[in-house]
Amino acid sequence: MKLARLATLGVLASTLAIYSTAHAQRPRTTPAPTGPWMNTSLSPDERADLVIKELTLDEKVALLHGVGMPTDEPVTPENAASNRGVGYVVGVPRLGIPGIDMSDAAYGVRSSGVNGRYSTALPANVAAAASWDTDAAYEYGKLIGIELRAQGYNMTLGGGVDITREPRNGRTFEYLGEDPILAGELVAKLIEGTQSQHVIGDIKHYAFNDQESGRNIVNVTIDKRAARESDLLAFEIGVLKGKPAAVMCSYNRVAGDFACENDWLLNEVLKKDWKFPGFVLSDWGGTHSTEKASKAGLDNEEPGRSWFGDKYKAAVEAGKIPQSELDDHVHRILRAMFATGVIDYPRQRFVVDPIAGLDTARKIEEGGIVLLKNKANALPLKAAGLKSIAVIGAHSDVGMISGGGSAQVDPIGGNALKPFGQGPTHWLEEIWFPSSPLKAIQARAPQAAVKYDPGVDPAAAAAAAKGADVAIVFGYRWESEGMDLPNLSLEKYKADGKEVDQDAVIAAVAAANPHTIVVLESGSPVTMPWVDAPAAILEAWYSGSDGANAVGNILFGTVNPSGKLPNTFPKSESDLPRPTIAPPPPMHWSAPSQDAAPKVPDYGVDYNEGVKVGYKWYDAEKKSVLFPFGFGLSYTTFGYSGLQVTPGDTVKVSFTLSNTGARSGAEIAEIYAALPESAQEPPKRLVGFTKVKLDPKGKQTVSVDIDRKYLSIWDESKNDWSLLPGEYTFLVGGSSDKLPLKATVKLQ
Ligand code: BGC
Repeated sequence: MKLARLATLGVLASTLAIYSTAHAQRPRTTPAPTGPWMNTSLSPDERADLVIKELTLDEKVALLHGVGMPTDEPVTPENAASNRGVGYVVGVPRLGIPGIDMSDAAYGVRSSGVNGRYSTALPANVAAAASWDTDAAYEYGKLIGIELRAQGYNMTLGGGVDITREPRNGRTFEYLGEDPILAGELVAKLIEGTQSQHVIGDIKHYAFNDQESGRNIVNVTIDKRAARESDLLAFEIGVLKGKPAAVMCSYNRVAGDFACENDWLLNEVLKKDWKFPGFVLSDWGGTHSTEKASKAGLDNEEPGRSWFGDKYKAAVEAGKIPQSELDDHVHRILRAMFATGVIDYPRQRFVVDPIAGLDTARKIEEGGIVLLKNKANALPLKAAGLKSIAVIGAHSDVGMISGGGSAQVDPIGGNALKPFGQGPTHWLEEIWFPSSPLKAIQARAPQAAVKYDPGVDPAAAAAAAKGADVAIVFGYRWESEGMDLPNLSLEKYKADGKEVDQDAVIAAVAAANPHTIVVLESGSPVTMPWVDAPAAILEAWYSGSDGANAVGNILFGTVNPSGKLPNTFPKSESDLPRPTIAPPPPMHWSAPSQDAAPKVPDYGVDYNEGVKVGYKWYDAEKKSVLFPFGFGLSYTTFGYSGLQVTPGDTVKVSFTLSNTGARSGAEIAEIYAALPESAQEPPKRLVGFTKVKLDPKGKQTVSVDIDRKYLSIWDESKNDWSLLPGEYTFLVGGSSDKLPLKATVKLQ
């Protein structure tokens, strides 16, 4: 472990040296702001209005759009002050209003390598969701905020919260699972953490961007009640509790209109019903009109100005867009800057603390790893008794995989599969972080002979496993923005021209060695034709900058696993609401940036399963699953007793949780409710959760307040949430399929 750390630090030292030279040459570009709007006793709204009074039409329009993608474009007078991220809004230099400097930052700051900077890769968002830990979500967001500021950015493009309606979605790892209440509560904390650092927070992709296939054209059909109770509920909680200053509308269409010119989504739901005071920016290239989009509630076009630049100005001058509409957009953007403090606390570049980043990343990963199987307490491993260990597969000698696309964080020193110094990462390329499980395992069992086999040939892998005291086999599935998965199997990849069948490798290893431990690295659920064979299975997700140490700590019991699945693992794709994702039309339609859009090809998806996403689907359809939502084992055991449900403004659910085993551990207690018959809802829904640490024989009375909204249905006729009077059954326990406590109460 020491060696691995030292190597990491060596790379960091050179990264920081490059940084300090570059930094010394960078001029300070934004003058200090002065003016009545700098009176901090005024509200963000008042301050925004004072600025608006000073602005010319050109200055207002300049706030409504970006000036391209500085990452990929030459330096121009407009983007010179930017930090060369994916988006930049110029601001109002004359008045000292800074530019909005945006970076992708789903699980860490993107593209920092090209700036010669370090950024921490946190475990993928789905791993943070598996921790079910709101404090960890805050720390996750806060670290991103700290590192964005350190690098010179003042806005994140993170905050993905589309629920896992389609588990083959190539961006499942960027999201927070299949349940809207779990995802919404977590994203709210993540946003709070980021915005605590005076960085404009974002929540995306609004809404129903649940697949990548044909994402620029796909037209989503869903009924309004189901929409409000599922995908939109995650956003509602995120927006109301996390108070992001920005919302990114998505590429897809909903009920015929593009999300970024969809009056229902932007004006009706977001701005009117949820009273969202911030600004809506389009996903990159997701703006398709001027007047229509402006009227529907889009405030800012990214990354360029095809529709919200000269055309916008002309439309205002021609009276086609009212001044009040323009001012509302400008107000929202300026308000966001005042509310988050990006004007009062100007960006100041500084050196990131990589050690703190590694610690945060590792701790969050340790809390998110899910122990799926542990026959006869095969885990934790007892280092002292181990003479030989076989480590097999998935490049576990050198690294652990990360999720790709615009979320991609540059690994320290580059892709672990390639020689050092190969330059920036590339789109749709698997990126392996140089965090070596082999080294982490050897460091924890120094007296054992640890052999590595690449796990490309089942017979060779079985031979390596046979006779070892324990075989630890790694399996992976890579995913990325820009693609969906054809199925939920482990990756089929090529090694020396031959296709590697990881399922066959795992099956062969488990057949050769009864003490086989499988460690999975995936963003989505995976199917496991070999599930009965190994002694233990861990889901480690995409594990971030210090993933191997987190896995090592779980394997050897330094840390007791406590994660639970935020997504159901089905037995097979045929159990999903849609056995396949319909392929988009062959003609690649890229969204036009100029003039009238050609007819959008006909391609749609009908979410007629409605509110039945994830476990709600399997419950309602009575389909058994591989591993249920909310499932995860521990090295200790927990007992539940004494459930009491007290109705009131919120519904108080109390019970006693005890650690009945011999080790300290954390338990995620899950609270579900079955609504009255009249609601016609799936059998149960998650309504609350909490994570509690307990020492052996420890006991704690746990109380969770349930928001009445979480027990309500969306009543279309009232356009509001409605709690139907009747009998509600509360179910409490440690997994959606194992809920030992039950109490029924009348609510009205
Ligand atoms: C993605 C967004 C991302 C943006 C900027 C788009 O392709 O969908 O999530 O923030 O690019 O990189």
